Amino acid sequence: MAAHQHRASQLSAVDLGKAYGSFHALRDLNLTIRAGEFVTLLGPSGSGKTTFLMSLAGFTDPTSGRIEEDGVDITHRPADKRNFGMVFQGYALFPHLSVADNVAFPLKVRKVPSADIAKRVDEMVKRVGLAGHAHKRPDGLSGGQQQRVALARALVFDPAVLLLDEPFSALDKSLREGLQTELKRVHRETGTTFVFVTHDQSEALALSDQIAIFDHGRLMQIGSPREVYLRPSSRFVAEFLGRINLVPITDCAFSTGRATGRHGEAAISAPIAEGARQGHHLVLAVRPEHLRVGEPGAGDNALAGTISDKVYNGAEMNLQVVLPTGQRIVLSVPDRSEAAALPIGSEVTVCWPVDGGYILADDE
Ligand SMILES: Nc1ncnc2c1ncn2[C@@H]1O[C@H](COP(=O)(O)OP(=O)(O)O)[C@@H](O)[C@H]1O
Ligand SMILES: [Mg+2]
Repeated sequence: MAAHQHRASQLSAVDLGKAYGSFHALRDLNLTIRAGEFVTLLGPSGSGKTTFLMSLAGFTDPTSGRIEEDGVDITHRPADKRNFGMVFQGYALFPHLSVADNVAFPLKVRKVPSADIAKRVDEMVKRVGLAGHAHKRPDGLSGGQQQRVALARALVFDPAVLLLDEPFSALDKSLREGLQTELKRVHRETGTTFVFVTHDQSEALALSDQIAIFDHGRLMQIGSPREVYLRPSSRFVAEFLGRINLVPITDCAFSTGRATGRHGEAAISAPIAEGARQGHHLVLAVRPEHLRVGEPGAGDNALAGTISDKVYNGAEMNLQVVLPTGQRIVLSVPDRSEAAALPIGSEVTVCWPVDGGYILADDE
């Protein structure tokens, strides 16, 4: 049966804004979510993620700009005319209906013939891993199972877009990781456009094709997990995505795509972020796992310092090294490595390949 022939939409925000009086919850948002992609909206609490998702859903009316679905303006189209699926944190299931009847609900509303309903509900209940639970009421299910029912109900009518707002944030870590894996599989199998909101950077890195990072109602950067993690365009994005060293660099000379400057007495070279300008305040951004201690290879950057602290976290050893300038840098090395065994007070050389770091504008 060709009834499951799938359509996934592309969504665009064009100069989109949402103001509450003089407060701007969203500002000048320009962003395209390509058909079939898994796009995550990531940012701190209050950064405008839910406001944007609700605008896509049709529950919030933007005050400027527009939203397009496959090039068609849908900014003021009512929510029930958008055919988008939705999963929210604690989005209530019908407590008096079984799992199967909860999942069947959107199909009944759409007047799908009952023989088709039974087949599609059965398929969808299996797809989210709830075979054998179809007859149960929601209160007989765990929190994770309830979110799977919500997911099945949101996907059963083959929406062109699935919107998810922090669907796992109430669940504990191990359960959340299990559901993340399931969600990726469901995304692959359905081919639907997924727009997923989280404030958890590791969840965003693990799940997404593209991550859109928000702060104070503005889009700070959009890119693949590797692009935003390895090539953040601002200090905010660099720090939001995980631990990072930010080392002031002076006397920076730019050549094509690369700059060479100084930290204290040491010369440092690195690729340059878009927006970093010669003569402005600049910082070297380098992640702890990209540094090592030992002899620098040809062309490596090197900084001499003294180990000032060590913190073991199970997977690795974190070494804090203090430089002659007083700057502290953190590097993580494999536990049981020679470096991990060095005592506090050891004189070391911290080194890394030129491409392992990145020079950013210091926007603080
Ligand atoms: N109905 C509203 N009236 C006034 N301010 C609102 C309203 N809804 C959201 N806001 C404000 O807009 C900002 C962004 O909110 P939201 O989009 O919910 O952020 P996030 O989902 O990233 O945590 C917050 O400062 C919030 O207080
Ligand atoms: Mg929110």
